[in-house]
Amino acid sequence: MGNTKEDALQNSIQAYVDRQMETYYSKKTIALSNNPVNMGRIKDASGSAIVKGVCGDTMEVFLQIDADMIKKIHFFTDGCGVSVACGSAMTQLVQNKSLNEALQLSANFLIREMGGLPRDDIHCAILSVSTLYKAIAEYLLKSESIA
Ligand code: FES
Repeated sequence: MGNTKEDALQNSIQAYVDRQMETYYSKKTIALSNNPVNMGRIKDASGSAIVKGVCGDTMEVFLQIDADMIKKIHFFTDGCGVSVACGSAMTQLVQNKSLNEALQLSANFLIREMGGLPRDDIHCAILSVSTLYKAIAEYLLKSESIA
């Protein structure tokens, strides 16, 4: 059983932090940062890539592709909470889409879908989309060399 005074203090600190976060980030960004989707590596990926962002953090993207459709996509990052949210939203946007449709995803569109991002976090969205492009390119180059 926890100490109720400590619990109350912890709860009020958490509520303060949550209010501060909501002044900078959309509910969607906070939710995906706290509960990421499609995060993790895929062992038998058809294509994968790793990109280091301007901040020094990295993102990885893993694709399972069948007949030019993205059947499964996962990402992994050692970056900030926003990169976790961006990676999650990016995978949701391109899952079950064709490679051509996925290549049309822009960082601007991703940012709009997330309800906007502060200027200092825009590079996290760019990192997600760039890593997706690189994973698709890696897949296409690999399949071309097999054909
Ligand atoms: Fe490095 Fe967000 S990915 S700060």
